[in-house]
Parts: sequence; C-alpha cells; structure tokens
Amino acid sequence: MLTEKPKAHPATDPHSDAHGSPASMDDLVAYFQGEYVPMRDAKVSVLTHAFMYGTAVFEGIRAYWNEDQGVLYGLKLREHMERIRRNAGMLLMTDLPPVDELVRVVVETIRRNGFRTDVYVRPCFYKSGQSIGVKLHNLPHEFVVVALPFGNYIDTEAGVRLMTSSWRRNADDALPARGKIVGGYVNMAFQKSEAELNGFDEALVLTADGHASEASAANMFVVRDGILLTPPVNDDILEGVTRRAVLELADAFGIPTEFRSIDRSEIYIADEMFLCGTGVQMSPVVELDHRPIGGGAVGPITRQLSEAYFAAVRGKDSRFAHWLTPIPSR
Ligand SMILES: Cc1ncc(COP(=O)(O)O)c(C=O)c1O
Repeated sequence: MLTEKPKAHPATDPHSDAHGSPASMDDLVAYFQGEYVPMRDAKVSVLTHAFMYGTAVFEGIRAYWNEDQGVLYGLKLREHMERIRRNAGMLLMTDLPPVDELVRVVVETIRRNGFRTDVYVRPCFYKSGQSIGVKLHNLPHEFVVVALPFGNYIDTEAGVRLMTSSWRRNADDALPARGKIVGGYVNMAFQKSEAELNGFDEALVLTADGHASEASAANMFVVRDGILLTPPVNDDILEGVTRRAVLELADAFGIPTEFRSIDRSEIYIADEMFLCGTGVQMSPVVELDHRPIGGGAVGPITRQLSEAYFAAVRGKDSRFAHWLTPIPSR
C-alpha cells in the first residue's frame, strides 16, 4: 500500500544568495503555459500524455557566467531551438512558434531568474492532452522552459572511464535518437546506470550492428594518427550541437576530421578519445573496458580542443562570439 509521504523541504540551491539565485528551486522562474511563473506553479496532471507515454522532445542548453565581464552567455541558443522545433514536428506537433520566438522565451526565462552563475536550461515541447491512448496525432501540446544553476555533470579534466554497454542504442527505425524524444531516454538511462553500477563513469553505446554510436548522453570523438574521427549521423547518434562546435574548433586549428563508423576495438587502439555534449561539455576518456586509451592520459588534441571550447563558451575567445547570446540582466 502506498503511504502518504511527509512534505519534502524544497530543494536547496547550492549556489543561492552569494550568486543572486533564489534560495529554493520553487522560487525559480519557469515559462509554463504561456506565462512566466514560479517553479512551484509549473505543474502538470499525472494524466498528461507526455507523462504517461514519454511523448515530448526536449533540449539541454547551458549558459556560462563570465565573472570578469559580469555577463551570462547563452550557448548556441538558436541551434538548440532549431533542433527542438524540428523534433517537435517529428512528433506531429504543428503550429509551432518560429525559432526567433523560442529563443526569445529561453532568454527571457534565464533573464528573469537573475543568475550570476553557470546555468542549465531545459526547454520541452510536450503532449499536454489528458486522454488515454498511444498515438501522436491530434493531440494538443505545450512548451515549457525551466532554468537552474548547474555545474559539471561528469569530469572535464582528468578523464573518465567507460564500459561498453550491453544495451544497444535505440535504432532510428524504432525510436530515433536524433529526435531527443523524452521516452527514448529510458534507453540512455539503462546505459548510464549499468555503467555507474559497474564502477564506470559512462557507457560506450553501440548501434544494433555493433558500431560505436555515442555515450549515454554525449557524442564521441577518437583520434587516430592525428585525424579526428566521429561516427556519422546515420549511426543512431543525436546530431549534437557540441559535436558541430568541436568540428568548428578542429577546422580553426587545422585538425583533419573524418565522419565514419568506428569499431569498438578501434577505440582500444586509438590515440585519444573524448566525449562532448551540453551536459558533459568536453570530457576526456582515458579508459574503455579496462584498456587504457593513449596510455591512459589526456591526449594533446583533446586538451587543445577542450581548452579552446571552455574559453569560447565563457566569452573569452572573440573568434567564437557568434556561439553566444549575452543574457540581459534582470
Ligand atoms: C543521447 C545524446 N547524445 C548526444 C548529446 C550531445 O548533444 P548536444 O551537444 O546537442 O548537447 C546529448 C545531449 O547532451 C544526448 O542526450
């Protein structure tokens, strides 16, 4: 029998006060049903279609606080909003607002929170109808945006340890990974939990035909003989915004790149490997399945790209200023 739980205390924000953030998650400002409301009022019914069936698409976006400049920079907002809009269409959502409007709502949600710290933003288009029935068509939808203070998701310096997951990536003809579909993330959750419960940091996920696809929630690159390799978009990856940013950096540094399928054993003998994504940011990989990669230390190309990435996202490299949207202060 289910018993009633005592009321939980609101989650406390570790970045509160000193960084100008609210003391409780409940006081954060969210965009919900067309209005900016305190998070405590951004609630849906348990009958909501997206809650019942995972029928929603989402984005993870970061904004980086530059202490010296006193500026918060939204990273690649337009690219994320273009992707979520396309993916909402994949779930047969129609009459979607233009990308400019979506960007405006994201900026305004962040702005209203007055953050002076690094931030994670989670926009989501979800099927908001309350009818029972598994389908995609003829259902209403809503757009929600929440933003909260956020630090590192996994290690970004010393390097992480991976295991090859026994769970394959959901194939495009079953549940497209490129869709960033909420229900699809149960696949990623199986992978992440299996890896962590076995003492690893992350999972290497293979496609149904056994090629390296990505990590549980990050794209991957390996370096072999000075060439930066990454799986092509038809190896069941999410077409990552950070992946494109890394390719742009590689181009700026004259590092040759190649898109091709990568075998698991190629990674065992690769010179370097790293993961990239909004959540993981840039995360060197130093081990896969108990085999050290490139001698078990962070490689030079990984280090170069990683340093360049972190400089760019904090607004410290004007060559990549076009990645950033300064968030006006409250
Ligand atoms: C499955 C998966 N792959 C890759 C990525 C990286 O994508 P992006 O760089 O757009 O955040 C993510 C999200 O972070 C993800 O969930």
